[in-house]
Amino acid sequence: MIEDVNLSSSDLIYPIFIIEGSKNKEPIESMPGQYRYSIDQALELCNELILNKIKSIILFGIPKNKDETGKVSCSLKSIVPRAIKEIKNKFGDKLFVIADVCNCEYTKHGHCGTLVNNDVDNDTTLKTLSSQSLVLAKSGADALAPSDMMDGRVKAIREILDDNNFEKTPIFPYSVKYSSAFYGPFREAAKSSPTFGDRKTYQMNFKNSEEAINEVQLDINEGADVIIIKPALSYLDIIFKIKKRFNIPVIAYNVSGEYSMVKSASENNYISEMETILEILYSIKRSGANAIISYHALDVAKYLNHNEV
Ligand code: PBG
Repeated sequence: MIEDVNLSSSDLIYPIFIIEGSKNKEPIESMPGQYRYSIDQALELCNELILNKIKSIILFGIPKNKDETGKVSCSLKSIVPRAIKEIKNKFGDKLFVIADVCNCEYTKHGHCGTLVNNDVDNDTTLKTLSSQSLVLAKSGADALAPSDMMDGRVKAIREILDDNNFEKTPIFPYSVKYSSAFYGPFREAAKSSPTFGDRKTYQMNFKNSEEAINEVQLDINEGADVIIIKPALSYLDIIFKIKKRFNIPVIAYNVSGEYSMVKSASENNYISEMETILEILYSIKRSGANAIISYHALDVAKYLNHNEV
Protein backbone atom coordinates (compact mmCIF):
# COMPACT_ATOMS: atom_id res chain seq x y z
CA MET A 1 0.00 0.00 0.00
CA ILE A 2 2.74 2.47 0.83
CA GLU A 3 5.44 1.29 -1.53
CA ASP A 4 6.54 4.34 -3.48
CA VAL A 5 8.70 2.90 -6.23
CA ASN A 6 7.31 1.11 -9.21
CA LEU A 7 8.84 -1.02 -11.96
CA SER A 8 7.02 -2.04 -15.11
CA SER A 9 7.98 -3.47 -18.50
CA SER A 10 7.38 -0.10 -20.10
CA ASP A 11 10.25 1.37 -18.02
CA LEU A 12 12.69 -0.95 -19.75
CA ILE A 13 14.66 -0.43 -22.95
CA TYR A 14 16.22 -3.45 -24.61
CA PRO A 15 19.65 -3.15 -26.30
CA ILE A 16 20.03 -5.04 -29.58
CA PHE A 17 23.26 -5.72 -31.49
CA ILE A 18 22.71 -5.93 -35.25
CA ILE A 19 24.96 -7.90 -37.61
CA GLU A 20 24.95 -8.51 -41.36
CA GLY A 21 23.53 -11.56 -43.10
CA SER A 22 20.37 -13.50 -42.44
CA LYS A 23 19.31 -16.20 -39.99
CA ASN A 24 22.26 -15.21 -37.82
CA LYS A 25 21.90 -15.27 -34.08
CA GLU A 26 25.37 -15.37 -32.55
CA PRO A 27 25.74 -15.88 -28.81
CA ILE A 28 27.87 -13.24 -27.08
CA GLU A 29 30.30 -15.17 -24.95
CA SER A 30 30.90 -12.49 -22.33
CA MET A 31 27.14 -11.90 -21.90
CA PRO A 32 25.34 -15.22 -21.37
CA GLY A 33 21.81 -15.04 -22.81
CA GLN A 34 22.63 -12.15 -25.20
CA TYR A 35 23.10 -12.44 -28.97
CA ARG A 36 24.07 -10.51 -32.06
CA TYR A 37 21.13 -10.60 -34.47
CA SER A 38 20.86 -10.30 -38.25
CA ILE A 39 17.94 -8.06 -39.23
CA ASP A 40 15.44 -10.90 -39.83
CA GLN A 41 16.25 -12.35 -36.39
CA ALA A 42 16.00 -8.91 -34.79
CA LEU A 43 12.48 -8.60 -36.22
CA GLU A 44 11.51 -11.84 -34.46
CA LEU A 45 13.02 -10.58 -31.24
CA CYS A 46 11.09 -7.29 -31.57
CA ASN A 47 7.89 -9.24 -31.90
CA GLU A 48 8.67 -11.09 -28.68
CA LEU A 49 9.50 -7.81 -26.91
CA ILE A 50 6.18 -6.28 -27.94
CA LEU A 51 4.28 -9.39 -26.78
CA ASN A 52 5.99 -8.91 -23.43
CA LYS A 53 5.04 -5.21 -23.21
CA ILE A 54 8.50 -3.78 -23.81
CA LYS A 55 8.00 -0.57 -25.74
CA SER A 56 11.49 0.59 -26.54
CA ILE A 57 14.81 -0.66 -27.93
CA ILE A 58 18.26 0.79 -28.50
CA LEU A 59 20.29 -0.40 -31.48
CA PHE A 60 24.03 -0.95 -31.96
CA GLY A 61 25.55 -1.94 -35.28
CA ILE A 62 28.40 -4.31 -35.96
CA PRO A 63 29.31 -3.87 -39.63
CA LYS A 64 31.36 -6.39 -41.59
CA ASN A 65 33.73 -3.71 -42.82
CA LYS A 66 35.10 -0.95 -40.64
CA ASP A 67 37.21 2.04 -41.72
CA GLU A 68 39.43 4.75 -40.29
CA THR A 69 36.78 7.37 -39.53
CA GLY A 70 33.55 5.42 -39.14
CA LYS A 71 32.11 6.73 -42.39
CA VAL A 72 30.64 3.27 -43.14
CA SER A 73 27.93 4.34 -40.72
CA CYS A 74 27.00 7.40 -42.79
CA SER A 75 24.95 5.60 -45.44
CA LEU A 76 21.34 4.45 -45.55
CA LYS A 77 22.75 1.08 -46.63
CA SER A 78 24.63 0.75 -43.35
CA ILE A 79 23.48 -1.99 -40.99
CA VAL A 80 21.57 0.02 -38.37
CA PRO A 81 19.66 2.31 -40.79
CA ARG A 82 18.51 -0.80 -42.68
CA ALA A 83 17.44 -2.46 -39.44
CA ILE A 84 15.52 0.63 -38.29
CA LYS A 85 13.70 0.89 -41.58
CA GLU A 86 12.54 -2.73 -41.40
CA ILE A 87 11.60 -2.54 -37.73
CA LYS A 88 9.58 0.66 -38.21
CA ASN A 89 7.90 -0.74 -41.36
CA LYS A 90 6.84 -3.83 -39.51
CA PHE A 91 5.99 -2.50 -36.06
CA GLY A 92 5.37 1.25 -36.50
CA ASP A 93 4.60 2.99 -33.22
CA LYS A 94 4.55 -0.24 -31.23
CA LEU A 95 8.28 0.15 -30.64
CA PHE A 96 10.18 3.34 -29.87
CA VAL A 97 13.52 2.92 -31.61
CA ILE A 98 16.57 4.69 -30.18
CA ALA A 99 19.74 4.63 -32.29
CA ASP A 100 23.08 4.78 -30.53
CA VAL A 101 25.29 7.32 -32.31
CA CYS A 102 29.02 6.62 -32.07
CA ASN A 103 32.00 5.71 -34.20
CA CYS A 104 33.65 3.04 -32.07
CA GLU A 105 31.68 0.20 -33.65
CA TYR A 106 32.61 1.46 -37.12
CA THR A 107 36.29 2.36 -36.83
CA LYS A 108 39.11 -0.14 -37.28
CA HIS A 109 40.97 1.30 -34.28
CA GLY A 110 37.88 1.13 -32.02
CA HIS A 111 38.05 4.73 -30.81
CA CYS A 112 34.89 6.81 -30.74
CA GLY A 113 36.21 9.40 -33.19
CA THR A 114 38.57 10.32 -35.98
CA LEU A 115 42.25 10.12 -35.17
CA VAL A 116 44.60 13.00 -35.89
CA ASN A 117 48.19 12.31 -34.79
CA ASN A 118 47.01 9.20 -32.93
CA ASP A 119 44.57 11.16 -30.83
CA VAL A 120 40.80 11.52 -31.20
CA ASP A 121 40.10 14.89 -32.79
CA ASN A 122 36.93 16.39 -31.36
CA ASP A 123 35.83 18.70 -34.16
CA THR A 124 36.58 16.36 -37.08
CA THR A 125 34.58 13.69 -35.26
CA LEU A 126 31.56 15.99 -35.01
CA LYS A 127 31.24 15.81 -38.80
CA THR A 128 30.93 12.01 -38.97
CA LEU A 129 28.63 11.99 -35.94
CA SER A 130 26.36 14.54 -37.63
CA SER A 131 26.17 12.62 -40.92
CA GLN A 132 25.62 9.35 -39.07
CA SER A 133 22.79 11.03 -37.12
CA LEU A 134 21.10 12.38 -40.23
CA VAL A 135 21.13 8.96 -41.85
CA LEU A 136 19.66 7.37 -38.72
CA ALA A 137 16.91 10.00 -38.58
CA LYS A 138 16.14 9.45 -42.28
CA SER A 139 15.84 5.72 -41.71
CA GLY A 140 13.11 6.37 -39.13
CA ALA A 141 14.85 6.41 -35.73
CA ASP A 142 12.56 7.82 -33.02
CA ALA A 143 15.48 9.23 -31.03
CA LEU A 144 19.25 9.54 -31.34
CA ALA A 145 21.58 8.70 -28.47
CA PRO A 146 25.11 10.02 -29.02
CA SER A 147 27.44 8.00 -26.77
CA ASP A 148 30.79 9.33 -27.97
CA MET A 149 31.29 12.15 -25.39
CA MET A 150 32.73 14.66 -27.88
CA ASP A 151 32.23 18.29 -26.84
CA GLY A 152 29.56 20.12 -28.81
CA ARG A 153 27.99 17.06 -30.41
CA VAL A 154 24.45 17.71 -29.24
CA LYS A 155 24.50 21.15 -30.87
CA ALA A 156 26.07 19.83 -34.08
CA ILE A 157 23.51 17.00 -34.34
CA ARG A 158 20.59 19.32 -33.48
CA GLU A 159 21.66 21.69 -36.27
CA ILE A 160 21.94 19.07 -38.98
CA LEU A 161 18.59 17.54 -37.97
CA ASP A 162 16.83 20.92 -37.95
CA ASP A 163 18.32 21.88 -41.31
CA ASN A 164 16.90 18.71 -42.83
CA ASN A 165 13.35 18.83 -41.46
CA PHE A 166 13.95 16.51 -38.53
CA GLU A 167 13.14 19.15 -35.90
CA LYS A 168 10.96 16.60 -34.15
CA THR A 169 13.59 13.89 -33.75
CA PRO A 170 14.75 14.14 -30.11
CA ILE A 171 18.33 13.76 -28.89
CA PHE A 172 19.05 11.59 -25.84
CA PRO A 173 22.76 12.14 -25.23
CA TYR A 174 24.77 10.06 -22.86
CA SER A 175 25.72 13.25 -21.01
CA VAL A 176 27.29 11.39 -18.17
CA LYS A 177 29.49 8.56 -19.30
CA TYR A 178 32.15 7.44 -16.90
CA SER A 179 35.28 5.72 -18.08
CA SER A 180 34.37 2.33 -16.69
CA ALA A 181 35.55 -1.24 -16.39
CA PHE A 182 31.88 -2.23 -16.55
CA TYR A 183 31.84 -1.79 -20.36
CA GLY A 184 34.18 -4.77 -20.84
CA PRO A 185 31.64 -7.32 -22.10
CA PHE A 186 30.04 -4.75 -24.45
CA ARG A 187 33.35 -4.24 -26.19
CA GLU A 188 33.51 -7.95 -26.92
CA ALA A 189 29.88 -7.89 -28.03
CA ALA A 190 30.37 -4.94 -30.37
CA LYS A 191 33.91 -5.91 -31.32
CA SER A 192 34.88 -2.36 -30.45
CA SER A 193 37.84 -2.56 -28.05
CA PRO A 194 40.35 0.18 -28.84
CA THR A 195 43.38 -1.34 -30.57
CA PHE A 196 45.63 1.07 -28.64
CA GLY A 197 45.25 3.44 -25.71
CA ASP A 198 41.98 3.89 -23.84
CA ARG A 199 38.96 6.21 -23.76
CA LYS A 200 39.97 8.10 -20.67
CA THR A 201 40.56 11.36 -22.54
CA TYR A 202 36.91 11.62 -23.57
CA GLN A 203 35.08 9.63 -20.89
CA MET A 204 34.73 10.88 -17.33
CA ASN A 205 36.89 10.06 -14.30
CA PHE A 206 34.89 8.25 -11.62
CA LYS A 207 36.66 10.27 -8.94
CA ASN A 208 34.65 13.31 -10.07
CA SER A 209 30.99 14.11 -9.45
CA GLU A 210 30.67 17.85 -10.16
CA GLU A 211 31.78 17.30 -13.75
CA ALA A 212 28.64 15.23 -14.30
CA ILE A 213 26.48 18.23 -13.39
CA ASN A 214 28.40 20.45 -15.81
CA GLU A 215 28.12 17.95 -18.66
CA VAL A 216 24.36 17.71 -18.19
CA GLN A 217 24.00 21.49 -18.09
CA LEU A 218 26.02 21.85 -21.29
CA ASP A 219 23.97 19.21 -23.10
CA ILE A 220 20.68 20.75 -21.96
CA ASN A 221 21.89 24.12 -23.27
CA GLU A 222 22.71 22.51 -26.60
CA GLY A 223 19.25 20.97 -26.92
CA ALA A 224 19.22 17.58 -25.16
CA ASP A 225 15.69 16.23 -24.63
CA VAL A 226 16.48 13.33 -22.28
CA ILE A 227 19.74 12.55 -20.47
CA ILE A 228 21.36 9.11 -20.38
CA ILE A 229 23.66 8.23 -17.49
CA LYS A 230 26.02 5.23 -17.50
CA PRO A 231 26.95 2.96 -15.90
CA ALA A 232 24.05 2.80 -13.44
CA LEU A 233 24.91 0.80 -10.34
CA SER A 234 28.07 2.51 -9.15
CA TYR A 235 26.55 5.87 -10.08
CA LEU A 236 23.18 5.93 -8.29
CA ASP A 237 24.33 9.04 -6.41
CA ILE A 238 24.93 10.80 -9.74
CA ILE A 239 21.47 9.86 -11.03
CA PHE A 240 19.96 11.15 -7.79
CA LYS A 241 21.86 14.45 -7.94
CA ILE A 242 20.97 15.07 -11.55
CA LYS A 243 17.29 14.36 -11.00
CA LYS A 244 17.31 16.80 -8.07
CA ARG A 245 19.08 19.49 -10.01
CA PHE A 246 17.45 19.36 -13.45
CA ASN A 247 13.93 19.08 -14.67
CA ILE A 248 14.60 16.55 -17.42
CA PRO A 249 13.88 12.84 -17.90
CA VAL A 250 16.80 10.54 -17.11
CA ILE A 251 17.53 7.11 -18.55
CA ALA A 252 20.05 4.97 -16.66
CA TYR A 253 22.10 2.38 -18.54
CA ASN A 254 22.46 -0.88 -16.59
CA VAL A 255 25.57 -1.80 -18.60
CA SER A 256 27.10 -5.04 -19.84
CA GLY A 257 29.44 -5.63 -16.90
CA GLU A 258 26.59 -5.15 -14.44
CA TYR A 259 24.59 -7.73 -16.42
CA SER A 260 27.39 -10.28 -16.72
CA MET A 261 28.25 -10.12 -13.01
CA VAL A 262 24.69 -11.11 -12.13
CA LYS A 263 24.64 -13.80 -14.81
CA SER A 264 27.88 -15.46 -13.79
CA ALA A 265 27.12 -15.34 -10.07
CA SER A 266 23.67 -16.81 -10.59
CA GLU A 267 24.93 -19.50 -12.95
CA ASN A 268 27.12 -20.61 -10.06
CA ASN A 269 24.14 -20.45 -7.69
CA TYR A 270 25.88 -17.84 -5.57
CA ILE A 271 22.85 -15.55 -5.83
CA SER A 272 19.24 -15.87 -6.88
CA GLU A 273 19.02 -14.35 -10.36
CA MET A 274 15.59 -12.73 -10.57
CA GLU A 275 15.60 -11.50 -6.98
CA THR A 276 18.95 -9.84 -7.58
CA ILE A 277 17.88 -8.29 -10.88
CA LEU A 278 14.71 -6.86 -9.37
CA GLU A 279 16.61 -5.40 -6.43
CA ILE A 280 19.06 -3.76 -8.84
CA LEU A 281 16.39 -2.36 -11.16
CA TYR A 282 14.30 -1.07 -8.26
CA SER A 283 17.37 0.66 -6.81
CA ILE A 284 17.94 2.41 -10.13
CA LYS A 285 14.31 3.54 -10.21
CA ARG A 286 14.55 4.61 -6.55
CA SER A 287 17.54 6.80 -7.37
CA GLY A 288 15.28 8.74 -9.74
CA ALA A 289 15.77 7.20 -13.19
CA ASN A 290 12.65 7.41 -15.36
CA ALA A 291 13.66 4.47 -17.54
CA ILE A 292 16.41 1.85 -17.68
CA ILE A 293 18.35 0.37 -20.57
CA SER A 294 18.96 -3.21 -19.49
CA TYR A 295 20.00 -6.53 -21.03
CA HIS A 296 17.78 -8.10 -18.35
CA ALA A 297 14.73 -6.32 -19.81
CA LEU A 298 13.13 -9.25 -21.61
CA ASP A 299 13.60 -11.71 -18.73
CA VAL A 300 12.20 -9.18 -16.29
CA ALA A 301 9.26 -8.31 -18.53
CA LYS A 302 8.38 -12.01 -18.81
CA TYR A 303 8.61 -12.33 -15.06
CA LEU A 304 6.52 -9.22 -14.38
CA ASN A 305 3.83 -10.48 -16.75
CA HIS A 306 3.38 -13.61 -14.66
CA ASN A 307 4.22 -12.54 -11.14
CA GLU A 308 3.38 -9.80 -8.72
CA VAL A 309 6.38 -8.10 -7.15
C1 PBG B 1 29.87 3.32 -27.23
C2 PBG B 1 29.10 2.58 -26.20
C3 PBG B 1 29.62 1.74 -25.22
C4 PBG B 1 28.54 1.28 -24.49
C5 PBG B 1 27.38 1.81 -25.04
N1 PBG B 1 27.76 2.64 -26.08
C6 PBG B 1 31.01 1.27 -25.01
C7 PBG B 1 32.06 2.19 -24.58
O1 PBG B 1 31.85 3.36 -24.32
O2 PBG B 1 33.17 1.69 -24.51
C8 PBG B 1 28.64 0.35 -23.32
C9 PBG B 1 27.39 -0.26 -22.88
C10 PBG B 1 27.55 -1.48 -22.06
O3 PBG B 1 28.61 -1.76 -21.49
O4 PBG B 1 26.56 -2.22 -21.97
N2 PBG B 1 29.23 3.29 -28.46
